[in-house]
Amino acid sequence: TSVALAFSGGLDTTVCVSLLKEEYGYDEVVGVTVDVGQPQSEFEEAEETANAHGLDLHVVDAKDEFAELCFDSVRANATYQGYPLGTALARPVIANAILDVAKEEGCDAVAHGCTGKGNDQLRFETVWRASDLDVVAPVREMGLTREWEMEYAEEKGLPVQSGNDGVWSIDTNLWSRSIEGGQLEDPSYVPPEDIYEWTDDPANETGTGLVEITFENGYPTAIDGEEMEPADIIEHLNEEAGKHGVGRTDMMEDRMLGLKVRENYEHPAATTLLTAHEGLEQLVLTKDERDFKTTVDNEWSQKGYEGLVESPLMKALEGFIEQTQTKVTGKVTVKFEGGMARAVSRESDFSAYSEEAASFNTETVNGITQQDATGVAKYHGFQSRLANAAYENATKD
Ligand code: ARG
Ligand code: SIN
Repeated sequence: TSVALAFSGGLDTTVCVSLLKEEYGYDEVVGVTVDVGQPQSEFEEAEETANAHGLDLHVVDAKDEFAELCFDSVRANATYQGYPLGTALARPVIANAILDVAKEEGCDAVAHGCTGKGNDQLRFETVWRASDLDVVAPVREMGLTREWEMEYAEEKGLPVQSGNDGVWSIDTNLWSRSIEGGQLEDPSYVPPEDIYEWTDDPANETGTGLVEITFENGYPTAIDGEEMEPADIIEHLNEEAGKHGVGRTDMMEDRMLGLKVRENYEHPAATTLLTAHEGLEQLVLTKDERDFKTTVDNEWSQKGYEGLVESPLMKALEGFIEQTQTKVTGKVTVKFEGGMARAVSRESDFSAYSEEAASFNTETVNGITQQDATGVAKYHGFQSRLANAAYENATKD
């Protein structure tokens, strides 16, 4: 019997390789590492650890597919409790890639190293349970703690290579880097500067930066006039905005199971692109479209957080988003300053803004004059004035 394991080379998944053989009795474990834009060092670690185990490791490139999903999330202005979705978007992509390998290799089961407390177990399994393979979750099923895992790894002489000796639990992809666990589990603990790798300390920042982003139908297509592939745009902006300390989050997050957790994230490109995209929507969409889209975007983000990107609701929301994005074509300049990103210039052929209509220097626009507002001004608040007067009358002495 054989099992395909979501393998990163980190503590959880390394311990799982051994447990799947010794405790679960699988003859063969097929490790699958899916490239969603982790740093090169993670693949090297995964490979080294796999070699030391004699683990058959498959590396699947899903970076471009993931970058496209990130851009779908830009069109939906997708954030969860204020931070750009990252891990959540990557999980379905990773889960599908692992399922493909499992089927190709004729595996009987698929396995992950997620805990029973987090979101990731749910995001993996919603994809896997659509197949008829068994689903195995050793960390959850055996009720393992990180401390137990560290001891077990030492006892068994397992090569654990999580860059920081397992102090933090880190999850990295193109769109974001998440740091959790260890002392960070204390909400009052102020994180040391060295948990951050993508963003420079904004306190050390010298000067400001400007970047111009081109959008076509809501998709980012070029930076400073140069057309680039989605993954390249994201990598470029992580570098550029990261230098200015843009895109850090330190928060209390509500997980799907109801638990609150302390989370730290960095996401320079995501912050930049979301800021730019919203800046362009402000220019081209009507107030009604913007108001209603906020509701649609929130639903998209919620399903995205839950890993339900394949849900029928998501497809329906995408229909609305697609319609609105036909106008989201143009250019936005974003300024990096003091660790923040701000849209400072926007232009589009679809602009709904009329300088002529809004200006205080024009007399008549489309046959409408200032005096035409007199009637509107008289009626504004009319019902409230009536109701207040009636209330006063009914309650006097
Ligand atoms: N809490 C975040 C989420 O559910 C990130 C979890 C990332 N996992 C990690 N081991 N750092 O999307
Ligand atoms: C885990 O619990 O395995 C990581 C965190 C999460 O899934 O939210």
